[in-house]
Amino acid sequence: MKISQRMLALVVSVVALPGAGCQKPPPPSFPPVMASPPELPPASVAACAGSADASSLAELMRNRFNPLLTSISFALHHEDAELSDRMGAVSDATSVLLGCVQDVTHRVPPFTLRETGEFYHFLDRLQDTALALEMAAVELDEADARHWFAHLKHECAACHARFRKE
Ligand code: HEC
Repeated sequence: MKISQRMLALVVSVVALPGAGCQKPPPPSFPPVMASPPELPPASVAACAGSADASSLAELMRNRFNPLLTSISFALHHEDAELSDRMGAVSDATSVLLGCVQDVTHRVPPFTLRETGEFYHFLDRLQDTALALEMAAVELDEADARHWFAHLKHECAACHARFRKE
C-alpha cells in the first residue's frame, strides 16, 4: 500500500511535535509535591497587611507572623467576649496569616533545590494547619480551633528547628 503524500506529512508533523504523545511519568526521584502554590478558597485568604515593614523574610516573621499568632492565641484563650466574636477574630487573623504564608513564597532564601523543597514542605504544612484552624473558627468549634492552634505553633517551631539560624 502506498502512503499518500498528505498522510506522510501528518505522520512527520506528529513525530516532530515536542513532547507530543509522551505518556511517560516523571523520573522516579522527582519529589511528589514540593509545594502547593496555594489553591485555597479565595474567601479564606486576606492580604498580609500591616503597618510595620515586612519586605524581608525576618521582618515578615517578626512583624506579621508573630503578632498574628499572639492575637489568635488571645482570642482563643483570654479574651473576655462572646464565642462568635472570639471565633470571628480567630478566623480574621488566620486569613491574614494565610495571606502572609503566600508572601513567604516571594522571600524564600537562596537555598539549594533540595532545601527549597523542604522549606516549601514546612510552609505547606503550616498552610494546611492554618486552614483547618480557620475552618474550625468559622464553624464556631472552639475545641477544634484550640486543637489546630496547638498544631499551628508546632509547625512554626518545626520549620525554625530546620531553617532558622541563631
Ligand atoms: C517554612 C518555614 C517557616 C515557618 C513555617 C515559620 N517560620 Fe518563622 N522563620 C523562618 C526562618 C527561615 C527564619 C529566619 C529568618 C532570618 O533570620 O532571615 C524565621 C524567623 C522567625 C522569627 C524571628 C524574626 C527576627 O526578628 O529575626 C520569628 C519571630 C518567627 N520566625 C515567627 C514565626 C511564627 C510565629 C511562625 C508560625 C506562625 C513561623 N515563624 C513559621 C522560617 C519559618
